[in-house]
Amino acid sequence: MPISLLVASTDEQFREMIRENLLNQPNAKVISEYADVASNLYIRVLQDLERHPEAALILDIGGDPAEGFRILEKVRAAAPDLYIIAANYSGDGESVIATIRAGANDFLTMPLRRTDFKDAITRLEKTPRRASSGTSKLGRIYSFLGTKGGVGTTSLAVNFASVLAQRKQQTVLIDLDAIGNDVAMQLGAAPQYTLQEVGENLSRMDQALFEGFVTRDPLGFFLVGPPDALEQRGYFSEAMFREFGTFLVEKYEAIVVDAGRSVSDEIVLGALQASSIIFLVVTQEFPSIRNAQRYIAYLMRMGFSQDQLRVVCNRYQKRNNPNYTSLEQIQQTLNQPVFYGIPETPAMLTAVNKARPLVADRQTAPEYDKAFRAFVDKATGMSKSVAKSA
Ligand SMILES: Nc1ncnc2c1ncn2[C@@H]1O[C@H](COP(=O)(O)OP(=O)(O)O)[C@@H](O)[C@H]1O
Ligand SMILES: [Mg+2]
Repeated sequence: MPISLLVASTDEQFREMIRENLLNQPNAKVISEYADVASNLYIRVLQDLERHPEAALILDIGGDPAEGFRILEKVRAAAPDLYIIAANYSGDGESVIATIRAGANDFLTMPLRRTDFKDAITRLEKTPRRASSGTSKLGRIYSFLGTKGGVGTTSLAVNFASVLAQRKQQTVLIDLDAIGNDVAMQLGAAPQYTLQEVGENLSRMDQALFEGFVTRDPLGFFLVGPPDALEQRGYFSEAMFREFGTFLVEKYEAIVVDAGRSVSDEIVLGALQASSIIFLVVTQEFPSIRNAQRYIAYLMRMGFSQDQLRVVCNRYQKRNNPNYTSLEQIQQTLNQPVFYGIPETPAMLTAVNKARPLVADRQTAPEYDKAFRAFVDKATGMSKSVAKSA
């Protein structure tokens, strides 16, 4: 049986060593690497386990052992069946026992020796594999990333959050497009508090405070976005987002992110990293497809995995026009399936002007409404019948 590994280490060399050592183990491969070993590590581990339930984790706690133990305990609590190999510099009896007590199944002493590593992999191979049980109870982050301005990133995020809220899911919609700040506009909201206040109050953040702070849409979801004044910069950092994201996935079922199109912005990248699914929004126009290629290549270089990405074609029309790319051509160019084609409808502009989500009224554009709900079903993995009764 092939072995899939998740490797968490702040030490690039360590991660490289693991990869190198696996070269002569053709049945084992690294499927995810985490370069920061932080308290929210378990979130990313759980997300990867949803896709690879058989995976095992190698966790380097050598960087900061005290913090490492806490992280190990959190991962263990979140994934009771996960096989964890902890690595640390001190391999004396006491630290090994402490590591096993914190939840590790096996232990490696650093610097890593080839034979030790090989033995650990053999022990892992011999251990009866228990797939890490089921889906996690954590909320899921769905991010919409535009490959160009105007492709419909904001409208998709807004309508996605709306459908989830209509289905009584506890949903938060986050606008990370600081320049656009279009989510509030599309929803007719005038938020008094923004991500800036969220950032300033993170240390005492709880659900009551959060919900008192942010705007609640009539459909039931919460929304929070950037300050409206464009000169306000640097009010939110990537580290803050990490903490905020951890709070959100622990308290809410779904977090929908309008990631705008600034894919290399560090907060956006942080949000994408924490996302269960990243919807890459394209249209049938060449500039958008070309950027999609660049975005995908960049995300792959940044360590994202293919199975996190879904290409969504917005404003889709079956057109017989050489100026518009067909879905087949998009698939070929991007070497990715198109996950969904969301139809073009004139009603969208009316909805944006009315500042209410199109899906809020199911009669306005029934065809769009049907297609969009089917998209949400597919994206959230709900079968049609479940979705209908929900
Ligand atoms: N499916 C659609 N059909 C028709 N028009 C759409 C559709 N989706 C978005 N639009 C329109 O495209 C414009 C840009 O949408 P927006 O969501 O602001 O894009 P982005 O966030 O990518 O800049 C808006 O005027 C919106 O009404
Ligand atoms: Mg937008």
